[in-house]
Amino acid sequence: MSTPTDTQRMEKIVSLCKRRGFIFQSSEIYGGLNGAWDYGPLGVELKRNLKNYWWRVMVHERDDVVGMDGAILTHPAVLKASGHVEGFSDPMIDCRTCKAHLRADQLVEKKGVKQCPNCGGKDLTETRQFNLMFETHVGAAAEESSIAYLRPETAQSIFVQFKNILEVSRKKLPFGIAQIGKAFRNEINPRNFTFRSREFEQMELEYFCRPEQGMELLEYWKEERLKFYENIGLPSSKLHVLTVPDEERAFYSKGTYDIEYEFPFGRQELEGVAYRTDYDLSQHHKASGKSLEYFDEETKQKFIPHVVEPSAGVDRTVLAMISEAYAEDQAPNDKGEMESRIVLRFHPRMAPIKCAVFPLLKNKEPLVVKAKEIVALLCPDMTVFYDESGAIGRRYRRQDEIGTPFGVTIDFETLGEKDPALRDTVTLRDRDSMKQERVAIQDLPAILRERIR
Ligand code: GAP
Repeated sequence: MSTPTDTQRMEKIVSLCKRRGFIFQSSEIYGGLNGAWDYGPLGVELKRNLKNYWWRVMVHERDDVVGMDGAILTHPAVLKASGHVEGFSDPMIDCRTCKAHLRADQLVEKKGVKQCPNCGGKDLTETRQFNLMFETHVGAAAEESSIAYLRPETAQSIFVQFKNILEVSRKKLPFGIAQIGKAFRNEINPRNFTFRSREFEQMELEYFCRPEQGMELLEYWKEERLKFYENIGLPSSKLHVLTVPDEERAFYSKGTYDIEYEFPFGRQELEGVAYRTDYDLSQHHKASGKSLEYFDEETKQKFIPHVVEPSAGVDRTVLAMISEAYAEDQAPNDKGEMESRIVLRFHPRMAPIKCAVFPLLKNKEPLVVKAKEIVALLCPDMTVFYDESGAIGRRYRRQDEIGTPFGVTIDFETLGEKDPALRDTVTLRDRDSMKQERVAIQDLPAILRERIR
């Protein structure tokens, strides 16, 4: 079933991302580099929160997974053995009328005739395979023997280091190796903002197991990954699991699920969860001549482990979080009149800034001093933003627009001027309900830590 698209909403999201410093076009002042994006001060925080949470759940909170951080430059033999040099390509067609390079599946069909989606031209080339890998040269001589590739997925370095990591970690099957890092694909048509980029980040787990555990672990990881997305604020109603049909699956895979999210431009893949059998380790075992077998101490048998791989995209998940968080509603201004506001309803765990701190007036020194003390108190535990300029309502609005879940205001009651019982208390405002509660300054770190963890 297709999901309706919302172009207007997408345009507002792209504009907000630029205006507030989440995501910029890469090399923008030179006209931009297609398919590459730079994350600004808020975007980088959001991205880090996502990666840190993934690492926490997938590595730190488990005793059966260890991490690694592999090189981006990859020996061609690795990618020959994995099948990427031969087969990592998309079918491409050129439009002779407008000269567009198109992925074959992007052509539109009218009355049974294939047309260019850009100009409607019907003068199209034959389909040819276009390899998506970026090739580069290592060292001073640009000859065949110096070729290396920018990795098209992080997974291959995990397979290639399997034996080393098995030995140093002394793990027993089933166990996993996790990695977060950049991957590069020369996509024919980068599009939908950051969704399909040429440089992007992946969060991948290769979970090694015995052959008979593969199908069960495929189900297990699909469920775990769905829970993860709910825990970062993507509701289950907008997440879908697509069972990839036999004819579309890689020949070596015994089962693949795509986890999809309803983006404003339609339902699209966030993550693939694939049972890759023993394909990758077997290929490297054969091609390198080095044993990648596992010795089972119980049965005294050697075999090549199978693997289940949950592979997620950092940039796509960031885009899904922003798309989900974006909302427009009504909020009262300083005079109590309702006005429209833009708010990013990030899950507090993911929000780039956790807490904003406002002295009620900037020209009242005791308020400013107290506010700065509170910033210093909270800083070690969370990202904090201090703002003293403008009416308090406007300051709230600015924070709502970047998704800050909590706002602390230091007022005259904090100084004990109205009621000594309220000395050293502040108001704590919740972004979504806009409700305010009065809390003691000394309790703030613990209250906020609990809400953002
Ligand atoms: N190791 C398996 C693998 O790489 P994939 O389905 O090709 O599988 C996994 O990629 C994830 O990486 C995708 O679900 C997506 O989130 C992300 N991804 C892939 N290509 C991307 C691109 N061009 N731009 C942004 N993210 C991409």
